[in-house]
Amino acid sequence: MSTPLQEGFPWLDGASHEDMRRAVGALYRVHSLLGAITDPDALLVRISEESRMVASAEAASVMLYDAETDELYFQVALGDSGDQDALKREVRLKMGQGIAGLAAQTRSAVSVPDVTRDPRFFSDADAASQFQTRSLLAVPMMDRDRLIGVLEVVNKVGGASFSEMDEHVMAMFSSVAATAVVNARLINQQIRNERLAAIGEAIAGLTHHIKNIITGLGSSTELIQMALDRQNTELALRTWPVLKRNVARMSCFVQDMLAFAKPRVPVRRPADLAALVRDAAQSVKDALAARNAELELNLERVTCRVSVDEDGIFRCLLNLLQNAVEALPETGGRVRVTASITPCGALEVLVADNGAGVPPEIRKNLFQPFFSTKGGRGTGLGLATSAKILKEHGGTLVLMPSERGACFRMLLPDAAANADGGEL
Ligand SMILES: Nc1ncnc2c1ncn2[C@@H]1O[C@H](COP(=O)(O)OP(=O)(O)OP(=O)(O)O)[C@@H](O)[C@H]1O
Ligand SMILES: [Mg+2]
Repeated sequence: MSTPLQEGFPWLDGASHEDMRRAVGALYRVHSLLGAITDPDALLVRISEESRMVASAEAASVMLYDAETDELYFQVALGDSGDQDALKREVRLKMGQGIAGLAAQTRSAVSVPDVTRDPRFFSDADAASQFQTRSLLAVPMMDRDRLIGVLEVVNKVGGASFSEMDEHVMAMFSSVAATAVVNARLINQQIRNERLAAIGEAIAGLTHHIKNIITGLGSSTELIQMALDRQNTELALRTWPVLKRNVARMSCFVQDMLAFAKPRVPVRRPADLAALVRDAAQSVKDALAARNAELELNLERVTCRVSVDEDGIFRCLLNLLQNAVEALPETGGRVRVTASITPCGALEVLVADNGAGVPPEIRKNLFQPFFSTKGGRGTGLGLATSAKILKEHGGTLVLMPSERGACFRMLLPDAAANADGGEL
């Protein structure tokens, strides 16, 4: 007499209440794994474990289909005895080869109660893994009509053959396994596409920037050539700073790219912060002069050497100063650099300007690589690179609230405390 659960499911006939309870429990767990485990490999291992338990099998495996070679290979192989790694390393099945190959080829479950009496059995797998297969159930993993792989359980404990109920439960597990593999592949593909699109965008931005600099270099070299041909010293002298500026831009751009692209451990040495600021200021001297802008340096509060990577901190100062100068109004521009040591031994450097400031809607993007509002004149690497350098020092770069213009704060914890107290 069948229970209400068995009605409409003839394959449950003969299944004990305990068998059904075990199967429903396993099905519930396997379905909940889909949402809980994002790593497809871990999910396939868990499905193999559940398969092994619910079908009372000695071993279980998942083979995946390689469409390029039209073969199956072991992705998961679980069992208490035998060399499972050898299966993964050495065994690949052609379509139709062995029981798994047959299940894959016919797209239907194949159950073999005794492999020694079945010539379709592929004994090389046992030879590779030093395992002795007796009974075998192989179920194809399908995504609609596309073959994804084969789920297998091996050797029913107690010597019996796998039941019809095992076959149906395995069919449900294999559909969950197929979904997990397909989802993982879709996500990987999407990540790859996004990465490729980001790389494409980055290359386009960089190329555009390089092209602008090269155009500047090209026209100034032509003008200098003309000046030399005509022995026009006045024209050469007028063009020379343009050429120098473009060479400096190119060098700055390359330095930023290098600093941004490679993770780097800062090489800390006792350094004179004021000298670093003055060097950076020297590099923007022409740009400041072109705007008739003023530069105010308040550096006297840093009275000792600071422990920093000089090249890195110079890059940060230069980037912040360049941004400040580029933001200045046409008249009355002013940039102020203020450095101090906080009571806990951190070095704080504020770079402030009286430009238009940073609009609230772009603040969240400021430190993103390649974010720039300057069109062809900016690559958007300055702040991203500076923030990265400061982070490598264990420090931070933030935009401070300010009434007028923009004010960026570099904070380097321990920079003063670790500098061996070297007085300036
Ligand atoms: N002092 C500032 N005042 C106003 N906006 C600023 C200031 N500093 C940075 N910004 C904004 O932040 C953006 C990103 O700055 P970042 O230095 O990273 O790139 P960029 O200056 O555009 O290009 P580059 O790579 O040549 O430095 C700028 O395009 C600008 O919109
Ligand atoms: Mg910049």
